[in-house]
Amino acid sequence: MKLIRTTGAEAAAMSQAHAGAFEPSWREDEFEDLLEGEGVYGFLALTDGPDQTPLGVILCRVAAEEMEVLTIGVAPKARRKGVAKALLAVGLEAALSRGARECFLEVAVDNPGAIRLYESLGFRRKGVRRGYYDRGQEGLTDAAVMRLDLAGA
Ligand SMILES: CC(C)(COP(=O)(O)OP(=O)(O)OC[C@H]1O[C@@H](n2cnc3c(N)ncnc32)[C@H](O)[C@@H]1OP(=O)(O)O)[C@@H](O)C(=O)NCCC(=O)NCCS
Repeated sequence: MKLIRTTGAEAAAMSQAHAGAFEPSWREDEFEDLLEGEGVYGFLALTDGPDQTPLGVILCRVAAEEMEVLTIGVAPKARRKGVAKALLAVGLEAALSRGARECFLEVAVDNPGAIRLYESLGFRRKGVRRGYYDRGQEGLTDAAVMRLDLAGA
């Protein structure tokens, strides 16, 4: 696996990686627009070799001293191999170099795998956003807000 820093040129690959992890997923033009935003940056995990198939994606934003993980997803066949951990590591490192001191993210309370991932990196629950995710006919799901102190990470 290799990790690359993304620009708008990789928006299609980011969208492809996102589609493997989320339903509904973000379109290419949505990634393009987001990447043009102030403080926004991303990374892609790709297979080694000539194919360079997208395995995972992370999109982050730094504003002042806060970093936010906007999205992170890994293709089902590539899971439990450290791809998300590697994407978070480079995303957090880039945030530190941009002057961020803490990281926040939201995660659905019914996503124990992702919560375990964040806890393993030192994130702790800081609160809850009621009805944050709209799951259509399944109704609304709460999000846990998680925080990582980057100074101590
Ligand atoms: C959550 C997700 C990003 C994890 O990606 P991943 O590449 O499989 O994660 P990693 O291999 O880096 O996992 C690192 C650690 O996190 C924890 N973890 C990750 N997925 C887990 C799961 N499904 N169940 C339990 N623990 C899990 C484990 O501690 C794991 O270490 P281990 O495999 O040595 O036990 C991936 O499952 C995914 O894309 N899910 C769908 C989208 C999503 O939920 N994104 C997060 C939204 S906030």
